[in-house]
Amino acid sequence: MPTEHTPMTLMRIPDDCYEIIRKLVYEQTRINLGDNKRELVQSRLAKRLRLIGFNNYHEYCRFVTHPQGADELEHLINAISTNHTYFFREPQHFEFLTQVALPELFAKKKTPIRIWSSASSSGEEAYTIAIVLSEFFRKNGRDQNPNNWEIECTDISSKILESARQGIYTQDRLREIPPETQSRYFQKGTGKLEGHYRIKSSLRNHFDFHLQNLLKPPYPFDQLFDVIFCRNVMIYFDKATQSELVGYLHKYLNPGGYLMIGHSESLTGINHPYESIKPAIFRKKILS
Ligand SMILES: C[S@@+](CC[C@H](N)C(=O)[O-])C[C@H]1O[C@@H](n2cnc3c(N)ncnc32)[C@H](O)[C@@H]1O
Repeated sequence: MPTEHTPMTLMRIPDDCYEIIRKLVYEQTRINLGDNKRELVQSRLAKRLRLIGFNNYHEYCRFVTHPQGADELEHLINAISTNHTYFFREPQHFEFLTQVALPELFAKKKTPIRIWSSASSSGEEAYTIAIVLSEFFRKNGRDQNPNNWEIECTDISSKILESARQGIYTQDRLREIPPETQSRYFQKGTGKLEGHYRIKSSLRNHFDFHLQNLLKPPYPFDQLFDVIFCRNVMIYFDKATQSELVGYLHKYLNPGGYLMIGHSESLTGINHPYESIKPAIFRKKILS
């Protein structure tokens, strides 16, 4: 077993190791690491190897593929997953929520409104949804009863999910949010949290978080959703996996419920049961 002080001379990840990592990541997450991801994988793994004191990639591959190294898989996934996200990313989805989906649900007196941020990363997407919901209720005169709406967050990376749960961000991460909205929904940190902002508990109370691989249903929910956000995660999957995934999600949507995918993703060429509403917005059909 290496020690914390093992000397570190990590160079290019050897071909056989890259193949092993690629295969393992595919088996665990269905993320397809092409050859173009080699440098990215190498730099992320180098940090991990340094941290746990491995000297080279062969040692690491032996460890992570051995039953004794099973716990390391979680760290490998944390290191490999790409978590880039920001508040109000792809604003068309939030405009659609305010202008179409929420008025429909509001008119039906649907309660609680249930929304799932299925690859939530560090939470910016889910908290944006929460802000949009809260603003909608504020402007439409329904009280802020925590039973009015709930948001579920899932991600495959335990590390990033924990930061979503914390809901703490540096000021520069809030740049897409108007100052007035910032002060309504974020609490300024003091002491150790100086320079940070935390989502207020009035919003956090509506949330639940689950570590979940989207490709390994069943999912931990016993009620269906009105809207599912599955954005900027399908790009990492091949077409067959994307088709499988949107099929799984379909089972968790109420009839008439919406699926939002990333604008750089597409269901074209995929066999799927949704009706297409707008670019990157799909709907589960209502059977008459
Ligand atoms: C680029 S972020 C997208 C965040 C947010 N949805 C957005 O659009 O800004 C992709 C997230 O998908 C997660 N992810 C990757 N594979 C996954 C899987 N099989 N199941 C669940 N989450 C997955 C990653 O950990 C990462 O946090």
